[in-house]
Amino acid sequence: MTSTAQTPDTSLPLDMIIFGGMGDLAMRKLLPALYMAHLHGNLPPATRIISTGRQDFDRNAYLAFVEEHSRSFITGGAFTDEAWRGFLQLLEYVRIDVQQEGLDALARLSRPGAERAFYLATAPSLFTTICDKLAQAGLVDRNARVVLEKPLGRDLASAIEINEAVGKYFEESQIYRIDHYLGKETVQNLMVLRFGNSILEPLWRAPNITSVQITVAEEVGVGSRAGFYDSTGAMRDMVQNHLLQLLCIVAMEPPASLAPDAVRDEKLKVLRSLRRFSLANIARDTVRGQYVRGVSGNQEVKGYLEESNVPADSSTETFVALRTYVDTWRWSKVPFYLRTGKRMQRRSSKIVIEFANPPFPLFPETPGGVANRLVIELQPEEAIKLQLMAKQPGSGMQMQQVALNLDLQSAFSQRRAEAYERLLIDVVRGRLTHFMRRDELEAAWEWADPIIDGWRELGEKPNAYAAGTWGPPESFALLARDGFSWVE
Ligand code: BG6
Repeated sequence: MTSTAQTPDTSLPLDMIIFGGMGDLAMRKLLPALYMAHLHGNLPPATRIISTGRQDFDRNAYLAFVEEHSRSFITGGAFTDEAWRGFLQLLEYVRIDVQQEGLDALARLSRPGAERAFYLATAPSLFTTICDKLAQAGLVDRNARVVLEKPLGRDLASAIEINEAVGKYFEESQIYRIDHYLGKETVQNLMVLRFGNSILEPLWRAPNITSVQITVAEEVGVGSRAGFYDSTGAMRDMVQNHLLQLLCIVAMEPPASLAPDAVRDEKLKVLRSLRRFSLANIARDTVRGQYVRGVSGNQEVKGYLEESNVPADSSTETFVALRTYVDTWRWSKVPFYLRTGKRMQRRSSKIVIEFANPPFPLFPETPGGVANRLVIELQPEEAIKLQLMAKQPGSGMQMQQVALNLDLQSAFSQRRAEAYERLLIDVVRGRLTHFMRRDELEAAWEWADPIIDGWRELGEKPNAYAAGTWGPPESFALLARDGFSWVE
């Protein structure tokens, strides 16, 4: 599959049209990101941001809503009255119930010669309807772009359905499937670390690397999103997309260029090389968890089943840990451990690459354990640390692990943009490299579906873990069995 990207003309006016313009994502992420892009002069001249929603608001009521629900998400001292007033002038609101009516109201606002980017931040069940109606209203032309927010389907079949529906009107080069993890600074930096240096490449393979861990731990619980989350679960919400994308960047071969298809071809190869799970593997190599009452941030917090809108007998997983393999020469027999969960001890996302120990313990006072690790911390702080053995000062030859710390914060004085800001600017400029192509998305579902189906078939309840911990004990056992342990 190829996608010949058309480069948009950023000197033309742009209409960014947000479906789901009153939703949580628009308020917490999209509008603050667009404000930042406006503040830093990264939006084309005469940009308009047209939000749509079902609420019977006029423009002023919408602006008041944005003021109340979005403004506080502009952080880091970036808020200024003047820039905010300028930003609000870009906003329009159109009341539309896409399930009930056509998009004539939107079409009436269209400007000849303007570029259009449609951001579909609604439930994916509406994507097909929206695309049909955009086409009926004559709003899709070769300059239009569409941004699809995850989750893109809930299995392979529904993902194909959405892709077909969108593909009826938009070329692959016009489709931006967003995974905001690909917009994170450290995730993009991982590509530079791997492919902008030559010293790591000879080591970046089996048997030099003995295991890879990818953790995305969240301290928050399900909050007010149970309606969505309970029918989704951690596998569909996090593993199928964010964690697999991280795995791809760790495991991919060097691409021939940074062109979208060159990068995405390599990620696709990784997804297609992921070992498929059988029922026996699922029972042995995956762990599902669900948080129960516990203490988080010094406060007693509810268990998942006590959260509002969660059915009392829900068996949705809020935690997943698993072991998988990338069956290629480079990664032969190297386990990849993935772990994600809500209500874990603290917010912490990291990738840990463990290297083989020296083949012979030369120093008699060598402590056990792993000598060398590369730890890439994605959040809350960004850091890249290479753990090496060093000699403890003194008369003996006692070793101790010390970290060579790539201090990115002090190396660069520039502001670090949030993932959504960076990705929205990519949409504006027509850069597809950090978005998922259709075949990538479908390959990720092809791998994830048998696991989800297998869990259903096995019929086991998720393992309980107390809120504020690192997940169920079974997750530790998964690694211990192979002689590894999670690096917290
Ligand atoms: C979203 C998930 O995609 O990612 C959420 O739907 C999750 O459940 C969020 O909380 C995590 O993103 P981040 O950037 O805060 O790690």
